[in-house]
Amino acid sequence: MWTDQDQAVATPAISTLDADPAFLADVLAGLAASPKAIPARWFYDRRGSELFEAITALPEYYPTRTEAALLERAGDDLAGLCDPGCAVIEFGSGSSAKTPTLLRHIEPAAYVPIDISGDFLRESARGIASAFPGMAVFPVEANFMAPVPLPSAVQGRPKLGFFPGSTIGNLTPLAATDLLRTMRQSLGDGARLLIGIDRIKDESVLVPAYDDAAGVTADFNLNLLTRINRELDGTLPVDRFRHRAIWNDSLARIEMHLEALDDLAFHVAGRRFTMKAGETIHTENSHKYGARDARTLLLAGGWTPMAEWQDDRGWFGLILAEARPHPMAP
Ligand code: AVI
Repeated sequence: MWTDQDQAVATPAISTLDADPAFLADVLAGLAASPKAIPARWFYDRRGSELFEAITALPEYYPTRTEAALLERAGDDLAGLCDPGCAVIEFGSGSSAKTPTLLRHIEPAAYVPIDISGDFLRESARGIASAFPGMAVFPVEANFMAPVPLPSAVQGRPKLGFFPGSTIGNLTPLAATDLLRTMRQSLGDGARLLIGIDRIKDESVLVPAYDDAAGVTADFNLNLLTRINRELDGTLPVDRFRHRAIWNDSLARIEMHLEALDDLAFHVAGRRFTMKAGETIHTENSHKYGARDARTLLLAGGWTPMAEWQDDRGWFGLILAEARPHPMAP
């Protein structure tokens, strides 16, 4: 029987040799799978990062502004909860947009932004260092999905991990639990974690947040195909796909998909793939958690919730949790 795999062209085009091998592997495996799926982390090339910044300012995309307001509201409480001389360690700092609010309130001795994108990291670390001249800044270029050795200068300090934006929601609950445990390993016993987690709410609010009227989220999703075409010698007909955002109630998540408008055939890195009209490539999950679900997730990841803040509508939660050496148990 012929499959898409059997029709692979033996020699990939030269330019794919320069491609990120992990991107190539994820795309080839994801397009050969059934159903097709590509990990959301590949959204963030330069254009994808710009489009994500634009999403955060959209009227329909409530999480960013809701969390920013919550951080302001929680600021005075947080100041009292963070030990003097503590170090703030931010996971996936990106543009560090919400960081100044936290730093202003708790006045830590040191700030350690961790991000996989070195250029972005150094640029935003410079901005933070000049805005907070009395605070030491130690940027770390690393993938925080694995344990990250912290700079020796902060090892003896009390630590507050910071993981805003409900980025945890982009992982399946299994992977989210693994990540929380990895963070615990990176920060050590006694550390604290301040995490933003988006709540389950009415579908009429959730779906437009991921399918906005101006089409910015659609461009963000479709940009993945443009990136594949550019970096992996793809021939995907971008205009023959449409963006879909679906609320999956049983799994409590928004799913983003790219749906083929017609029967399609295309190549990526010399391999041929086909799609039927209506078939989709699943590109992102954004899990939402009830207030209790979020606490249970943290406990499963080794973090004991200590304090919590939510907006008046209960749309978004900020949780402070602690890595207790001896978790509560009978
Ligand atoms: C980064 N992450 C938390 C965003 C979210 O809401 O899941 C990514 C995003 N995708 C579409 N819009 C925003």
